[in-house]
Amino acid sequence: MQKPVYLDYAATTPLDPRVQQAMLRSMEETWANPASRTHVYGWQAEEAVENARNQMADLLKADSREIIFTSGATESNNLAIKGLLESKGFVDSSELKKAHVVSSVIEHKAVIDTLAQLEKRGLSVTWLQPDSQGLISVDQVLNALQDNTVLVSLMWVNNEIGVLNPIEVLAPRLQEKNIVLHVDAAQAVGKLPLDLGAIPVDLLSVSAHKFYGPKGIGALFVRRRPGLSISAQIHGGGHERGMRSGTLATHQIVGLGEAAALAEANLLAESEKILALRTRLLKGIESLPNIYINGSLTQRVAGNLNVSFGGVEGETLLMSLRDLALSTGSACTSVTVEPSYVLKALGLSDELAHSALRISLGRFTTEEEVDFAVNAIRQTVAGLRAAS
Ligand SMILES: Cc1ncc(COP(=O)(O)O)c(C=O)c1O
Repeated sequence: MQKPVYLDYAATTPLDPRVQQAMLRSMEETWANPASRTHVYGWQAEEAVENARNQMADLLKADSREIIFTSGATESNNLAIKGLLESKGFVDSSELKKAHVVSSVIEHKAVIDTLAQLEKRGLSVTWLQPDSQGLISVDQVLNALQDNTVLVSLMWVNNEIGVLNPIEVLAPRLQEKNIVLHVDAAQAVGKLPLDLGAIPVDLLSVSAHKFYGPKGIGALFVRRRPGLSISAQIHGGGHERGMRSGTLATHQIVGLGEAAALAEANLLAESEKILALRTRLLKGIESLPNIYINGSLTQRVAGNLNVSFGGVEGETLLMSLRDLALSTGSACTSVTVEPSYVLKALGLSDELAHSALRISLGRFTTEEEVDFAVNAIRQTVAGLRAAS
């Protein structure tokens, strides 16, 4: 067992060795510019890219022409939100003032900050609050709609508490009303069976490094349907059907494709295995006094557990758990020492939010590692409580 034991799969996943092999092969064999039309090297690189696009589309049950490669979910979220508003003509302040968007206070910063930026320029945003379990209801979204609502942007799975939004139910309701739905699915892709053939989401953000692919590559799904388009936010050679210019990073894209294919082949069995591990972890620690599970346990992705340990300071706990690699709050905002805004939105006190650990399990987590984590947490929490 390698220590510290890695229990931070929601921050990023290790590269699957099979993905690494595919990427190495691509770096050796399909290194040419996939946009080069004049020689066989270019054609081979293009074929590798298109193969990966198909693999990505297959995982989402989408059409490969609906997949735009980006640098990750942060860029995809920016492209979806800014690109959609711009394509509808909401560009400068006088126009942005006429538009309304619905989102939530527990989105990832890549959505919150993008919308907040536009809000400063006049956009009107309704920020939905989750209930104490982290849940946002379909009615809550529908009640927030206005005559000028052009977009709803909600995540599928929350990165801190793993709680799911009811996207399957919401999407057809918004479709009826002709309101565009963008879903940040960075924490859902590869973990939940997402069928975009059946669920009418319009725009969906993907990040390869959350499902055992490389960092720095992702995708935006843009549904091919009349009336839906997005304006490019990066201009240049007109790659990706004009929606995202820049020479394609073939080996990164090949890695994303391989990761998608592996996810598709193993998704259900893998999430069952991970759920069993999480149950084992929870059983191991739930008898500790004064602990709280943050977020609904039933509406939740398999690999996430977020727990507050009353009377114990999270940073001290983390420092004492040297043999475990995990997060307090979200890794994406871990430069700040503010209590997690997601946990605060669930109604936790600063103290309980500060005492939270996010434990996230994944493909390579073993029972032995979970048992080790249980013992380490039990001993450390008891020790810290005794000392205070
Ligand atoms: C829900 C969510 N959205 C967006 C992102 C950003 O993704 P990326 O690292 O690919 O930019 C993350 C990852 O931190 C995430 O968890």
